[in-house]
Amino acid sequence: MFEAAGEDAINLGLGQPDFPTPEHARQAAVDAIESGEADAYTSNMGTPALREAIAHKHERDEGFVVDTDQVIATAGGSEALHLVMEAHVDAGDEVLVPDPGFVSYEALTTLAGGESVSVPLRADLTLDPAAVEDRITDDTVAFVVNSPANPTGTVASESDIREFARIADEHDVVCISDEVYAQMLFEGDHYSPYEYADSDNVVVVNACSKTYSMTGWRLGWVVGGTDRIERMLRVHQYVQACASAPAQYAAEAALTGPQEPVAEMNAAFERRRDLVVDGLEDAGLECPRPAGAFYAMPEVPEGFVDEVIERGVVVVPGEAFGDNGAGHARISYATDEATLTEALEIIDDAARAVR
Ligand SMILES: Cc1ncc(COP(=O)(O)O)c(C=O)c1O
Repeated sequence: MFEAAGEDAINLGLGQPDFPTPEHARQAAVDAIESGEADAYTSNMGTPALREAIAHKHERDEGFVVDTDQVIATAGGSEALHLVMEAHVDAGDEVLVPDPGFVSYEALTTLAGGESVSVPLRADLTLDPAAVEDRITDDTVAFVVNSPANPTGTVASESDIREFARIADEHDVVCISDEVYAQMLFEGDHYSPYEYADSDNVVVVNACSKTYSMTGWRLGWVVGGTDRIERMLRVHQYVQACASAPAQYAAEAALTGPQEPVAEMNAAFERRRDLVVDGLEDAGLECPRPAGAFYAMPEVPEGFVDEVIERGVVVVPGEAFGDNGAGHARISYATDEATLTEALEIIDDAARAVR
């Protein structure tokens, strides 16, 4: 898609914030490098100070309590997802994934030898707990919940999240709760199934990548019951040994330092969300109002994606996120308002041209 669009294209295809990493996080890595603290392996699970910071972050931001021995620091949310899959999925096992959904869920299930089963979303692009429950079979070992979601930007309600926790408890399957966008929320609150489950069947994946605009640092983590952590640690210690030490120091500073950069980034994303949703509406493209992350997923007419790319704006066709994404496009608004305004005019022209 990027190549098809040419060099001067406006890229609304990227899944990463366009803000700098907070200065205090960068500086912490510089200090750790200069003092030699970051020269050696850390504990496989990550430095005690980082795991303390992660535990504290969950209490501060999401209101649930975890011990430091329930946390493994990983190479981004991507490795965290990989650990969960490798530790829980065997050949023939099924994992239920939202469709459209983040591309890694299906791929990592396949890598672990399992089979992913698509769960179509509601018309408002949220994941319906009943649709998940309906698809549970004797082979199901896990289902994925991602709120706020990529590629839709939609946020699960508290009652849906309670249902996901109940399903994990009652069916004894793992709920993989991908919460990498948990703090990128414009309306309402974030709820984690971890808070509501009675069993240890919920595993949470999170990262500094999106919240602190640290995608290049590769620092995420997984939270779960100690037995599950023990299984995931066996995978982590052989595939990764430990997360990059400089990144661990940067993440600790990001999590414990001033949180204003997060609020400023979210305020900018909210303004852009409004700009994009209004612009899409003006172009006649229906789009459930995203309440988080930095994506919108409008319904688009046949031929729209090619037309808009030919006119120099890159968007991602919905089918890249699963068969049920067909007829939609993902628009990332991780770019400045002036550029978005220019892109929206082109989107308007393209939509009219193919209608
Ligand atoms: C829903 C979701 N989960 C996980 C990730 C992986 O993030 P990371 O960069 O921390 O590996 C992404 C990245 O786009 C994502 O959108």
